[in-house]
Amino acid sequence: MSLPVRPETDRRIDDLLARFPQKGSALLPALYLVQEEKGWVSEASMEYVAGKIGLSPAFVSGVVSFYTMFHRQPVGRHHVQICRTLPCALRGADALMAHAAKRLGVKDGQTRADGACSLASVECLGACDRAPFVQINDRDFGPVDPSGLDEILKRLE
Ligand code: FES
Repeated sequence: MSLPVRPETDRRIDDLLARFPQKGSALLPALYLVQEEKGWVSEASMEYVAGKIGLSPAFVSGVVSFYTMFHRQPVGRHHVQICRTLPCALRGADALMAHAAKRLGVKDGQTRADGACSLASVECLGACDRAPFVQINDRDFGPVDPSGLDEILKRLE
């Protein structure tokens, strides 16, 4: 059966496993490596990682669905996540989300047909003091208002 990842990624995961006394500790970084290669973590990738580490696919699936930084389906080149938890909501996250949906031409949870971007409302990103808070791929922004979001998106285009 062919690997669901490139041989290079497989080798990097082996390197990770060699560094951790307990293989399970390599789970999150291994999933990151898969996502770095593919842009998301498929069912086949979860089974592969589970097999490498000696965990059940159901456990790995639970971890992937718990953390919003892992994508269970392909996302756009710019994956825009807007926090909707109370501190961000009180500081305008709903209006920011509505603005983002209009500006990007995509609804919450969707990826634009051209693959340029996707939009998701998420729970607390751990930066409540910078509410309303936005994460685009692995970059953090906050506080962000609608015109600030336009500026950020313009820089990314
Ligand atoms: S509530 Fe938005 S980052 Fe915590």
